[in-house]
Amino acid sequence: MSQLSPSLTVLSTVSSFGQGDAAPRAALESAGYRLVDNPHGRKLTEDELIALVAEHAPVGLLAGTEPVTRRALEAAGDALRVVSRVGVGWDNVDHAAAAARGIAVCRTEGVLDESVAELTLGFILAALRHIPAHDRDIRDGVFKKRMGGLLAGKTVGLVGFGAIGLRVAGLVQAFGAKVLYCDLCQRDGCGCQDCDLPTLLPQSDIVSLHASGSACILGEAELALLKPGAIVVNTARGGLIDETALEAALRSGRVGAACLDVFAQEPYKGPLAQLPNVILTPHIGSYAREARNRMEAAAVENLLQALAQAERA
Ligand code: GLV
Repeated sequence: MSQLSPSLTVLSTVSSFGQGDAAPRAALESAGYRLVDNPHGRKLTEDELIALVAEHAPVGLLAGTEPVTRRALEAAGDALRVVSRVGVGWDNVDHAAAAARGIAVCRTEGVLDESVAELTLGFILAALRHIPAHDRDIRDGVFKKRMGGLLAGKTVGLVGFGAIGLRVAGLVQAFGAKVLYCDLCQRDGCGCQDCDLPTLLPQSDIVSLHASGSACILGEAELALLKPGAIVVNTARGGLIDETALEAALRSGRVGAACLDVFAQEPYKGPLAQLPNVILTPHIGSYAREARNRMEAAAVENLLQALAQAERA
């Protein structure tokens, strides 16, 4: 592709592309592409993406988590050859529509596992020791000790046991926790116990989601199976939890605390933000500088490879 024209455009819809490392941008430019950045500095709506692709007719999209729908792919016209996710989840891309238009879709696997796993560990420890609540108290002039709990000796239930789940398991095992997991595939030799969801939920003190896709895993019925007072962590995708049912379970005390990095609708502005037993972060699973740099480099490499392939085809 780079030989066809020096002015072909790649659109980055990621809000922070190139902020920590100039190399991925330089790699695109030296391959002859013009990079157009996300002008909004945040996750795009479908309509914003449609307007941008219609304006710039990019050959490649360095995509965030915005909805890359059939409408958006159509609005890009025939120029678009590749959607390269800067990230691992690609449930936001309409794969069938992309395939029908001959658009390759790729993602960056294996470069953000540590970053998401460490955020998960941070959430678990923060919830167990009420760190955000203590911080809020002191800022409000209240010096009050809340009793916490240890991670040592707890049972952590991991729903989804791919690379990220496995890394979370290693971290919490180092603290002396027991790990149950539920997934389609089994992993031997990691010291974790495989079981189904109805077995995992009532036995786990902490349930953490590491599944892909967007089908609801924790709805009202599943939340009712949890150990009373359990901690629920979601650093995967918002749609995996029914937020209305979670709110009710948090209010009733059935769920002791929820730690949420992802939401059905982002940016999140809903009622969970009013509850004291919820810790919220704005989808920062991959937001560790080292991980972002690796992701951006991998996404550009994937994009350039796929564009070269498209040119040969
Ligand atoms: C982030 O959510 C990703 O899927 O990479």
